[in-house]
Amino acid sequence: MNKELIVLVSLLIVVFLLYNHTKAQSIKKEKEQFQPLSYEQADEIADSVLALMTLDEKIAYIGGDRSFFLRPIPRLNLSEVYMTDATQGVHIRGKFKDYDLTKYQLEKSTAFPCPLLLAATWNPELTYKYAEAVGEECRQGGIGILLGPGLNSYRHSQCGRNFEYFGEDPFLRARLIEKYVQGVQSTGTVATLKHFLANNTEYFRRKSNSMIDERTLHEIYLPPFKAGIHAGARAVMTSYNLLNGEWCGQSEYVIDTVLRKQLGFKWLVMTDWWSVYDGEKLAKSGQDLEMPFAVALKDAHQLLQDGKVKIEDIDRMVKSILRTYFSMKLHDQKKLPPDDAMYENHELIALQSAREGIVLLKNENAILPLTDNLKNILVTGDYVKKNAMGGGSAEVIGYHQRLMIDELRKEFGDRIFSADNPSLEQIKSADVVLCNVGTLDSEGWDRPFELPEDQENKVRECVNNNPNTIVVVTSGSGVKMTNWNDKAKAIIYAWYVGQNGNTALAEILSGKTNPSGKLPITIEKDFKDSPGFGYLPEGETLYKKWNDKVEKGRPVYDVRYTEGIFSGYRWYEKNNIEPLYPFGYGLSYTEFEYSDLRVSKDQFHEQDVILVSFTIKNIGKKKGSEIAQLYIQDPECTVPRPVKELKGFRKVDLIPGENTTVEMALQKQDFSFWNPKTKDWFIEKGRFNIFVGSSSKDIKLKKSIELQ
Ligand code: BGC
Repeated sequence: MNKELIVLVSLLIVVFLLYNHTKAQSIKKEKEQFQPLSYEQADEIADSVLALMTLDEKIAYIGGDRSFFLRPIPRLNLSEVYMTDATQGVHIRGKFKDYDLTKYQLEKSTAFPCPLLLAATWNPELTYKYAEAVGEECRQGGIGILLGPGLNSYRHSQCGRNFEYFGEDPFLRARLIEKYVQGVQSTGTVATLKHFLANNTEYFRRKSNSMIDERTLHEIYLPPFKAGIHAGARAVMTSYNLLNGEWCGQSEYVIDTVLRKQLGFKWLVMTDWWSVYDGEKLAKSGQDLEMPFAVALKDAHQLLQDGKVKIEDIDRMVKSILRTYFSMKLHDQKKLPPDDAMYENHELIALQSAREGIVLLKNENAILPLTDNLKNILVTGDYVKKNAMGGGSAEVIGYHQRLMIDELRKEFGDRIFSADNPSLEQIKSADVVLCNVGTLDSEGWDRPFELPEDQENKVRECVNNNPNTIVVVTSGSGVKMTNWNDKAKAIIYAWYVGQNGNTALAEILSGKTNPSGKLPITIEKDFKDSPGFGYLPEGETLYKKWNDKVEKGRPVYDVRYTEGIFSGYRWYEKNNIEPLYPFGYGLSYTEFEYSDLRVSKDQFHEQDVILVSFTIKNIGKKKGSEIAQLYIQDPECTVPRPVKELKGFRKVDLIPGENTTVEMALQKQDFSFWNPKTKDWFIEKGRFNIFVGSSSKDIKLKKSIELQ
């Protein structure tokens, strides 16, 4: 190369590096600088804009535009705002009906592991990073409102959207959701808490009436929403179902009383898509925005004329939307330039989530990690050559898909051989069989707890013919494992691992990563053991695929939450029902010893907290992480209380021989129950037991305190 050319090439490289650096700096600056306006500041601007709006503009504004937009009003410089789903990454929509979404189309978006896997990490800091990454991708697409996080409760294993949510325990969900909200909103993207309230089944969801008492709402279903609200969430989406006889999106009790007054939510409330029916009720309920466009509100002018709705109602709705819009500076939001380094970072976060969220359920004779003398590893299953993911609005396809087969080959080389339908001979002669089974869960319908028949047959064939069968479950919820659990040598619950997660799976199999995930759900032996059993109306059975027409024509059906506050492990423990795998359970390749539980005396005087401390030591031979869990029991009380309730957890990383002291602070609220008479939390004095353990079942330390 001649000299001039070398100089020119070097110059070009410098310019390119400088350009990238400046771009990265500007994104960083934009992010660091993002501070929402306070309620008062945003309210003032909203007031001044509202004063300029005509009645037609106001009425147009409270209905969504082109299915996924907040309506623009150019005359008033109000810009359109695009919304997209959801919790596990940015859902990229193609052309939607006749609307051109090109301007908001990301070329790619990272498919993170599903939120239920994220919950299995029990890691609030990682949750923040995951959500921040999702928010950053929204900013790349000019997406102002993320229609997530989804935080409904895992009431039963058949719910098609469990993969989108964070499991069965209100405390764990609350601690993760608050971080999720902060992560997304740190990027200037609105986080939407959904679906409010009690949307815990997908079976004809628009016709399902959740019948729940007030105490149960406050103790089980509301805490994660409350935590998200306290973390500053700027939007809430109401749900499809009815609560105690009224559709949530038009229920004054749900929105005005519970969400606005009891939980103190002051920002944008929107309906779920086509979920409300009565404009008058809607306008008076505290609801602000009907999505995807005005259907119940299509006759708003008439309702006003008839005096059924007042202009104050409309003004309140418009103002709430405007307040949120200005508070998050959506009028001024810039679409950030493409950024490869950002995507690389997001892939690492996706991978790290999978490393921490995949759960090892069984490992007989320490068959895992797989040793070098196992030469002949047969891999079979539906999700070996294609990645499974949850479906519906939350679906994220991703890019750079790491397939299970490829990642296993990278880790184990030619010791791996795969067969879609292995012969008996192949199964028998393998040193190890890696058998992958699972379910494809989706919004819009529930799916059976039992595996699809072909998969059940396959896994039975493997465990019956090879004693070294390792089962890898790919699913967005619990599945029935009872028929083959005992015969499987090892079981790994991989959920939906996302685009990078199969690397983590291969690392766990080889031992490069020590598993640390713990179940955020209870896995029952049989569906009839579950607190949700019996939710289907008599004589009806599950269906597959959207069924809007049938749904429209059918009557409302009641889902009675007769278990009350005894949801999840609270149910199994109260009724002495042995689950297959308990809440909080998960194995490691090392072992931990718990000792020295101390409780900093027993009163709530000045500090208003009770400090609990204990020591955890890694007594095994491998570096590993342990998720320690703290539960509280109120053994004598005038109202029924659970055997125990999660009120603290901490993840610690320890090398062999290392120990650490964990401290947790308990608040008054942690000992209280919701008293429907006073409509407040109440702490009944007396003895409380504090349990520390490695799962809800495996309690290692115990201490009693007396609260006076
Ligand atoms: C889902 C919501 C989603 C909305 C918009 C609905 O079907 O229930 O969770 O945000 O569609 O995509």
